[in-house]
Amino acid sequence: MKIEVKGLTVIINERPILDNITVSFNEGIHVVLGPNGAGKSTLLKSIACLLRPSKGEILLDGVNLCELPRVEISKRVGYCWQNPLYGFFESTVEREIYFIIKNLRVPPRADILKILDVEKFMKRSPFELSGGEAKRVSLASILIANQPIILLDEPFEELDWSGYKALQDLLRTFRDEGKIVVIATNNPLEVEPFKPDTFVLISSGKIKSKGPWSELNDNILIESGVIPRGYICRFC
Ligand SMILES: Nc1ncnc2c1ncn2[C@@H]1O[C@H](COP(=O)(O)OP(=O)(O)OP(=O)(O)O)[C@@H](O)[C@H]1O
Ligand SMILES: [Mg+2]
Repeated sequence: MKIEVKGLTVIINERPILDNITVSFNEGIHVVLGPNGAGKSTLLKSIACLLRPSKGEILLDGVNLCELPRVEISKRVGYCWQNPLYGFFESTVEREIYFIIKNLRVPPRADILKILDVEKFMKRSPFELSGGEAKRVSLASILIANQPIILLDEPFEELDWSGYKALQDLLRTFRDEGKIVVIATNNPLEVEPFKPDTFVLISSGKIKSKGPWSELNDNILIESGVIPRGYICRFC
């Protein structure tokens, strides 16, 4: 399985938010790095076909992904919002979580609810949850559909230690299962423990550097305004 982003340009209000991005992702864990406003979320939304590119295309195994019917795209690609509240619209957590299963007509991935510990919120409104609770529900509401391609936009924001460990275990499982996982973050320390396969560093909508994770160096991170790997690691 391979996702190819080819010459992706996204222009909004005459401003290029992404400029000629070319990068590909195979099975494994990949990290999109960059400072605030670099274009990380825009790249993930574009891969999920939530944004229409001004130029370029997203290919999944050579097929133009965004030309597939929406249901077929959603069966293949799960996009977890940076801000959970952008994704919520149902009256209860239970309805929120099972929405995708009902609409895609796919079986639920049974382990997600327990791993993210969201069953206790089922009868509550998703709009009344705490920040970390909302992040867990938001992740569960997408990952329950067990898509082969998972796009996680700042997935660790707001999570406590048990949430971080749960997501860490899930990511390792996803890698063993052969999924493509792409994580957007401005903090490489959060993903260091998973030993990601590759990185792509974006700044002002352009690729500044990309390659194997082992080749990511602190100088290029500091130049781009991203926390260097050598900084104190909260979770290592
Ligand atoms: N719909 C939109 N209309 C206008 N500008 C937008 C829109 N979406 C994104 N932008 C702008 O595009 C730039 C990139 O936004 P994006 O959300 O992709 O950044 P990011 O790298 O994810 O940043 P962060 O680390 O803060 O999450 C920002 O300057 C943002 O203000
Ligand atoms: Mg973002």
